[in-house]
Amino acid sequence: MASLSLKNISKVFPNGFIAVKDFSMEIEDGEFVVFIGPSGCGKSTILRMIAGLEDITAGEIYIGDRLVNDLETQERDVAMIFQNYMLYPNLSAYENMAFGLKMRNIGRDEMDQAIRRAAEILDITSILDKKPRTLTRAQQQRVALGRAMAKDPKVFLLDEPLMNLDEKLRCQMRREIKRVQEKLGATVIYVTDDQREAMDLGTRIVVMNDGVVQQIGTPEELYEKPANKFVAGYMGTPQMNMFEARVEQDGKRAVLCFSDHRVLLNEERSAPLLEGGYAGKEIVCGVRPEDIHTDREFVAANPDTRVEAVVQVYEMLGTEVFLHFQVSNTGFITRTGTESEARPGDTIAVCLDTTRIHLFDKSTEITISNR
Ligand SMILES: Nc1ncnc2c1ncn2[C@@H]1O[C@H](COP(=O)(O)OP(=O)(O)OP(=O)(O)O)[C@@H](O)[C@H]1O
Ligand SMILES: [Mg+2]
Repeated sequence: MASLSLKNISKVFPNGFIAVKDFSMEIEDGEFVVFIGPSGCGKSTILRMIAGLEDITAGEIYIGDRLVNDLETQERDVAMIFQNYMLYPNLSAYENMAFGLKMRNIGRDEMDQAIRRAAEILDITSILDKKPRTLTRAQQQRVALGRAMAKDPKVFLLDEPLMNLDEKLRCQMRREIKRVQEKLGATVIYVTDDQREAMDLGTRIVVMNDGVVQQIGTPEELYEKPANKFVAGYMGTPQMNMFEARVEQDGKRAVLCFSDHRVLLNEERSAPLLEGGYAGKEIVCGVRPEDIHTDREFVAANPDTRVEAVVQVYEMLGTEVFLHFQVSNTGFITRTGTESEARPGDTIAVCLDTTRIHLFDKSTEITISNR
């Protein structure tokens, strides 16, 4: 396996479209890096540039310590798995797995060993002589993984490999991929548009938007300390609640004013706002659903951050409830337990946990301060 070094990579297509802008990242040997972002943000383009399927307009890509910019795909020693993993229908599972190896000119015994080793890890030894159409989706997916593994590549590149599978199978294959990656100590770059999948798999996640990297971090870093409003809104289900507020100063404390509500921050959370010159200005505030409280004790203990809310929807999900409500004209969602007595139409008191609030500059959308 190998490390990867991406230095100031850009991609401009012949029609002038800039798909990737000045992307740099060091990926360590054995890392599981997930690229995530909305459709068209440039995820596949980056993967294709690493694989050598797309020219690099500017920048340098190193796999290990080898500059690969001008190397053909076959010379880069990478294995790529796409969403439609394209097994050859007329070849058995074994022959499919052998296909990538035949082009390499290695001995028959060595090839057989590589295939059987991969098959064993993936638990598909008993189906090696079967044709793809007689296999289940999960088995086909394993054969595609096995074909990549048998090549013993320096890097695995996976582009939404689980996209066509139903939710249950997706979860199962996710566990499988993670298990195999850990067992092999493989360097994996994985593209998805599913943020839960990204959080589950990635040792680090790269969040992209419009060809520009927004933030690179561990799942915890992205969730707890998003660098800007885009990342804050993109990571987490249900989404972080966002609302605009005007900042007022009350001694050493900042007050967030929106419609006729006033939410008082403690001194620690106020400092970045007041020192940053935000008094008198509009900002964007973000609160995660789990950081809004409706239980009477919390509300009674925190009068400074209390607002009146009108309940709109009571969304029962078994062990938890999403309560949708409005404060003035802004919609919010909070996560509560099934013991909540609030029902649509009720006016209730809720508290925003301001120790965990996220504050963003309204024009740049960059984070002023995180929880
Ligand atoms: N050959 C091309 N010429 C011009 N523009 C292209 C070309 N190939 C891709 N693009 C554009 O580049 C952008 C990035 O494409 P890319 O496939 O990398 O997106 P993505 O993040 O993988 O999206 P998705 O989640 O839909 O797969 C898109 O807007 C796409 O339309
Ligand atoms: Mg794509």
